[in-house]
Amino acid sequence: MFPRSSTLVLFLLLAPPLIASAAQYCSLKPPSAVSSPVGSIQHNANATDGSDVIASAWYPGWLATDFPPSSISWSKYNAMTFAFATTTPDVSTIALDDVSAQALPQFVSAAQNNAAGPAHSTIQPRSPHRKIAPLFVNAVLNLVSQYNLDGIDFDWEYPGKIGLSCNVVNPDDSANFLLFLQELRSQPAAKNLVLTAAVGIAPFVGSDGQPMDDVSQFAAVLDRIAIMNYDVWGSWSPTVGPNAPLNDSCAPAADQDGSAVSAVNAWTTANFPANQENLKSQITLGVAAYGHSFSVTPSAAINKMGSIALYPSFDSSVQPIGSADTPGDTSLDPCGDPNGVSGIFTFAGLIAGGFLNSNGTAANGIGYVFDSCSQTPFVYNQTSQVMVSYDDATSFAAKGRFINAQGLLGFAVWDVTGDQNDILLDSLHEAMGIQPVCE
Ligand SMILES: *[C@@H]1O[C@H](CO)[C@@H](O)[C@H](O)[C@H]1NC(C)=O
Ligand SMILES: *[C@@H]1O[C@H](CO)[C@@H](O)[C@H](O)[C@H]1NC(C)=O
Ligand SMILES: *[C@@H]1O[C@H](CO)[C@@H](O)[C@H](O)[C@H]1NC(C)=O
Ligand SMILES: *[C@@H]1O[C@H](CO)[C@@H](O)[C@H](O)[C@H]1NC(C)=O
Repeated sequence: MFPRSSTLVLFLLLAPPLIASAAQYCSLKPPSAVSSPVGSIQHNANATDGSDVIASAWYPGWLATDFPPSSISWSKYNAMTFAFATTTPDVSTIALDDVSAQALPQFVSAAQNNAAGPAHSTIQPRSPHRKIAPLFVNAVLNLVSQYNLDGIDFDWEYPGKIGLSCNVVNPDDSANFLLFLQELRSQPAAKNLVLTAAVGIAPFVGSDGQPMDDVSQFAAVLDRIAIMNYDVWGSWSPTVGPNAPLNDSCAPAADQDGSAVSAVNAWTTANFPANQENLKSQITLGVAAYGHSFSVTPSAAINKMGSIALYPSFDSSVQPIGSADTPGDTSLDPCGDPNGVSGIFTFAGLIAGGFLNSNGTAANGIGYVFDSCSQTPFVYNQTSQVMVSYDDATSFAAKGRFINAQGLLGFAVWDVTGDQNDILLDSLHEAMGIQPVCE
């Protein structure tokens, strides 16, 4: 069910306007915010000089039965994205699964009745080819109007790259994506829509198969991007490694597979606006309320010093079942391939699974190491031989400080259901200096 394996996904961003007229209204502001407009969320990063911050997350619509929209901590967000609506072979049709179709109206209404925010749902269209773009533009706008959405978040994973096995990759994917976005933005009905994209840690791939040098035209039609800085390491990697590394330039050369540091550098070098030369940053950092599990023998997992080893080998033929998996799941992806066992544990799932205490620290009898380069933790259960790379309050705080230091626009959490008692979210807020202020 995780979006990473999909092709082109459009998240429909529902961004209910902030309600300034409500009698009781809470906004999020930094401790030092000076006369900021009601309804804004700000942080105290010097780099961004008190400008608005985006505190966002994705809401997995298919989990609505267990996690209804009313259980979202709305007051701590000012943007919320409903995932997903998906593209279909018919370019004029965008689909929602049954649970999502039922949850989306509740979600929109919950978002509009609460202080902070937006919401969106994702679509998985085929490559928007030039000729079909108008049809697809209409389909998107119809969905926006049908559900009273405030925006759309596109999650094409990834233009110019294969993703799901049956995807058709075209060297012009990124160019066509841009044409589509420009066409969409040019519609009167889309003038004020919030248009965003969830993107990989490298800029969109150009016709030569390499990351583009200049993505500034995307920045002209998108309000912002969220860099999905997770799934950097997982079951497909040669060894265990960090799911969501903050940094990798300090890692052994062979293990420098990307990080928030490298990703922000890559996107800003390709001219996606950072907070510099009077350009407001249009980049939010995607952060993970989950981790990946690996089967690791004790001899590989524990080094001679008796502590948990970094980058140990693992047995890829034994994928542990994660908290996000359904045992015995035989479901297929849209290409007919088995979804398989993801091995994904949400942060809450690590607590439920006995790896972590209810306050999010490593449980008694569980090995723990905090990698000082990736600035993320790993836990290890020697009996079950399961190691998990994940994020905790400490790693979220490090990412919050990085967001401020880089003057990024804010954060986007995948996903809103993964946290437990807002341990991760509160840590981000605290590190970024975000505070709720009620008027
Ligand atoms: C902002 O800059 C001022 C002056 O350089 C400094 O005293 C203050 O600690 C900084 N605040 C933050 C949050 O970095
Ligand atoms: C990342 O690592 C490099 C190399 O050690 C270091 O210079 C840099 O300060 C680190 N950045 C962050 C944000 O940790
Ligand atoms: C480790 O895993 C074993 C086997 O699944 C389980 O019985 C045990 O409770 C776990 N240990 C801890 C400390 O949670
Ligand atoms: C977290 O919970 C554990 C187990 O109850 C406790 O030993 C530990 O002191 C707590 N840590 C913090 C930081 O509250």
